[in-house]
Amino acid sequence: MTKKEKMEFEIIVKDIINNNNFKELDNELHHGISRYGHSYRIACGVYRLTKYLHFNYIDATRAALLHDFYFNYQLEGNSETKKLSIHPNFALLNASKYYELTDMQKNMIESHMFPLGKVMPKYKESICLTLVDKVISTYEQQRYKWGMKLGVYLLFIFNMITLQK
Ligand SMILES: [Fe+2]
Ligand SMILES: [Fe+2]
Repeated sequence: MTKKEKMEFEIIVKDIINNNNFKELDNELHHGISRYGHSYRIACGVYRLTKYLHFNYIDATRAALLHDFYFNYQLEGNSETKKLSIHPNFALLNASKYYELTDMQKNMIESHMFPLGKVMPKYKESICLTLVDKVISTYEQQRYKWGMKLGVYLLFIFNMITLQK
């Protein structure tokens, strides 16, 4: 992102990242990082893509930042598979408490797990979010998995060396 884009991005998301409830996402683990970090990264990706494509990038960026605005306690008691399909409903519920959302933004949040959830992406911005979320989530999960593996290997090597002394 250029300096000018970064400044514009920050103006678009300012009130959301300053929302104390939203900031709580920094304490929620998501793909090995915080859910706040994940959401911020997705919002940056959606901002760049939708701006480049001349779509409604302001509304799209804000919805992208809110797409995973849920807390682990809200999903307790559900299977991992079920959590994948129902968390967008909680994100929409939480986001609607604080922000007036357009139909496009609601659809972006509700459909971001497509084809897992029941809601279809109806807008081109919704398709952008579901694609960006999938690509970045895969990257984050792989990085976390390889980071864990590397950690185990390093620990193994460390133990081999220290045990031989
Ligand atoms: Fe999600
Ligand atoms: Fe996500």
